[in-house]
Amino acid sequence: MRTDTAPLVRREDYAPPPFWIRTVELTFDLDPAKTMVINRMTVERNRAVPAGPLRLHGEELNLTRVLADGQSVSFRHEPGFLVIDNLPEGDFTLEIRNTCCPEKNTQLSGLYTSGGGFFTQCEAEGFRRITYFLDRPDVMAVYTVTLRASQAQYPVLLSNGNLVEQGELEGGRHFAKWHDPFPKPSYLFALVAADLVAREQHIRTRSGSEHLLQVWVRRGDLDKTEHAMNSLVASVVWDEARFKLPLDLERFMIVAVGDFNMGAMENKGLNIFNTKYVLATPATATDTDYFGIESVVGHEYFHNWTGNRVTCRDWFQLSLKEGLTVFRDQEFSMDMVESASARAVKRIEDVRGLRQVQFPEDAGPMAHPVRPDSYVEINNFYTATVYEKGGEVVRMMQTLVGRDGFARGMTLYFERHDGQAVTCDDFAQAIADANAESELARTLPGFKRWYAQAGTPRVTARGRYDAPTRTYTLGLEQAPGPTAGPGAEPFVIPITVGLIGRSGRALPVELEDETPSSATSRLLVLDEAKAFFTFVNVDEPPVPSLLRGFSAPVVLSDGLGDDELLVLLNHDSDPFNRWEAGQRLALARILAAVAGDAPDTLDSAFVDAMRRVLRSPELDAAFKELVLTLPSEIYVAEQLERVDPQRIHAVRESMKAQLAGALRADWEWAYDTLQVTGAYRPDPVDAGRRALVNLALSMLCIDAVARGDEAWPGRAYQRVKDASNMTDRQGALGALLGSHAALAKPALERFHALFANEPLVIDKWFSMQASAPERDGEVFGAVKRLLHHPDFSLANPNRARSLIGAFCMGNPAGFHRADGAGYAFWADRVLELDAMNRQLAARMARVMDRWKQLAEPYRGLAEAALRRVAAHPTLSSDTREIVGRALG
Ligand code: ARG
Ligand code: ZN
Repeated sequence: MRTDTAPLVRREDYAPPPFWIRTVELTFDLDPAKTMVINRMTVERNRAVPAGPLRLHGEELNLTRVLADGQSVSFRHEPGFLVIDNLPEGDFTLEIRNTCCPEKNTQLSGLYTSGGGFFTQCEAEGFRRITYFLDRPDVMAVYTVTLRASQAQYPVLLSNGNLVEQGELEGGRHFAKWHDPFPKPSYLFALVAADLVAREQHIRTRSGSEHLLQVWVRRGDLDKTEHAMNSLVASVVWDEARFKLPLDLERFMIVAVGDFNMGAMENKGLNIFNTKYVLATPATATDTDYFGIESVVGHEYFHNWTGNRVTCRDWFQLSLKEGLTVFRDQEFSMDMVESASARAVKRIEDVRGLRQVQFPEDAGPMAHPVRPDSYVEINNFYTATVYEKGGEVVRMMQTLVGRDGFARGMTLYFERHDGQAVTCDDFAQAIADANAESELARTLPGFKRWYAQAGTPRVTARGRYDAPTRTYTLGLEQAPGPTAGPGAEPFVIPITVGLIGRSGRALPVELEDETPSSATSRLLVLDEAKAFFTFVNVDEPPVPSLLRGFSAPVVLSDGLGDDELLVLLNHDSDPFNRWEAGQRLALARILAAVAGDAPDTLDSAFVDAMRRVLRSPELDAAFKELVLTLPSEIYVAEQLERVDPQRIHAVRESMKAQLAGALRADWEWAYDTLQVTGAYRPDPVDAGRRALVNLALSMLCIDAVARGDEAWPGRAYQRVKDASNMTDRQGALGALLGSHAALAKPALERFHALFANEPLVIDKWFSMQASAPERDGEVFGAVKRLLHHPDFSLANPNRARSLIGAFCMGNPAGFHRADGAGYAFWADRVLELDAMNRQLAARMARVMDRWKQLAEPYRGLAEAALRRVAAHPTLSSDTREIVGRALG
């Protein structure tokens, strides 16, 4: 048993293991109540380190025997370990027999049951819940796995690698034997035993090799696997084309499971996925779901090289594989779309996510470097910082060495490190060494501070135009974020810039002493606290367009006013900055109204600008939808020192209502002209139109309800009843909920009745109710009632997230109540969950990260709820670490 006083693990304490495990032969007799495991290992002493006892990790296991070289040996237990002191000299074999109890494993880490089958999740430290092992990523072994189980109940038996043998056993049991030729760390082990069916596809890769791809799901879900399979094929093709990284396995399997803590897992050759990222039909999944499936299928597939062939030396290096693989899946998704505009839409969505989740994380009690220095529970560090900010760090490397240079760097990385467990430094070194003349190589020691220092850097820009010399001097200054710690040093910040004339003309971006060029966009590298850049041949006072494409994860303040932002919104050739200009215009208005410095009435300059975007014949619908969506309440809160969530909500809702009313004719025009007809296709053009139509419908319902007009809610209700795809249906239901229309209630009933047997759609049904805009505590009341709905279960992570996560994280105005009842609700649910699934509980506990920013009475009430959770006597170390940091 793990104790709740788990110690702090420090990066600086890393030491190589005193033993290596070279091969593992595992035999499982699968039984939900008592599974027997035989674990035969060949163990070698690591002669590079002093000899010592063998300390194997183990958690919630029953040990039945230990043999070294066939002889019994003495052993002892320490919390979390099996310790063997007297071992044969030299190398030896070790046989361990133990049992575990999959059906009682509600943590969903290790071997567990779900929907009548067996599944595993071993990353990060789940393997030790299956058998005793050196459960650390730098110990890599070749696995041979035999599974034995009832043939009737578990007709499909899967593990990593290749199937080498299968057959029947007596007593209605059968077996399958799998062999994975690639040495791997234990976190990549997987097994599945269940009643499943597969969609199969054979592919031949560029190099001519043949492979079998399979997507395994429950009977009845096969018709929902086409998109996942297409995404898998596209991923294989893309990685070979872009990075020359081929599929190295004869067989590559994806298995979907309904109970899963995270999105998916890259086990070698046997990826296990949350059903949410596999199953889709037009009737059950939205455009967002389709894109999510493509990106997660890609992500896990790309791990086969970035994570599996080259893995992490220790868990502090998690971003080595996660940051890099996030970058790769983002690039994949961008390469999958045809137009530059659709690429930009993907980039905007990724940046919006980064700012919404990672920026707050990096400014709060859980702030940590991309390569953390310490942790209590590694599962708490599968964070937006390690993943998304880590992805931005890799992206900056590509920006500094160029796309081809980055591909060369990847090649060198694999030449050097294939088959090894390495560090973030090793990766950066390889990219720099393959690009010796690059800005990355020049600045490498400074660049690596992105791995070491936490916090979002601030960049301040000030420009001065000098008419007589036709020069424009840009001063750039950086300061580390408040969580960077004392003695933080300057970051290396790539800043892509353009200059734009007042009439919208792109001006040259030539620095003094450079050979003239016609380029209108260029890279500046800020690698000191402060630097000046002088542009020459600038014919008129320019509006600077800085940080194009969001070239670095920083907060920029450039002092631009409304007029200049309008120039960028109307003319910037960089779509990211065009969108950004629109968001900044909106944000300035929201912030002024929240502060009480201005009324919350929108000015006509802003409304006209929004109308121009909405009506623009040249802009794509997807882009328009992003511009016309106001910054989220969470993003607004992040700009403030003292947060009153109710005030932010009221201002934002009021501005939304004004945009709804002022642009009514324009929304009607959009709704009428942009409907997608024909068969559903999850492509960016159609999806963009659906998104804008849905936004228009929400706006029209808000405006209609305010005027007491029934027509638009009536149309939305009709659409909930007979939409031909889930994107439209969910959009219509959202429009009714978002406008507090009376028809929302029957629409919800209708929706539930239509999809009573589709768990992923019922998740949407819960989460839409939980995240509907709060009014007079109605949403909170509904959420409390839904806890007792027969379809609700805290044990299923998707369902728990769909109600509790959606409410506490996605509904600030519902959650932050002046009576503190939202916080009490949170505390009760976290404590309930903690007893069942500590990883999930700890994730939910993160809701309170930013409590110190809250204004009273929220702050005091939030603190009381946190203290109540922290005082719970049997709290897990996972949740304790989160609430402890929040309070500390
Ligand atoms: N490596 C997986 C992915 O990003 C995530 C698994 C994390 N699991 C966990 N329990 N922390 O693709
Ligand atoms: Zn990953």
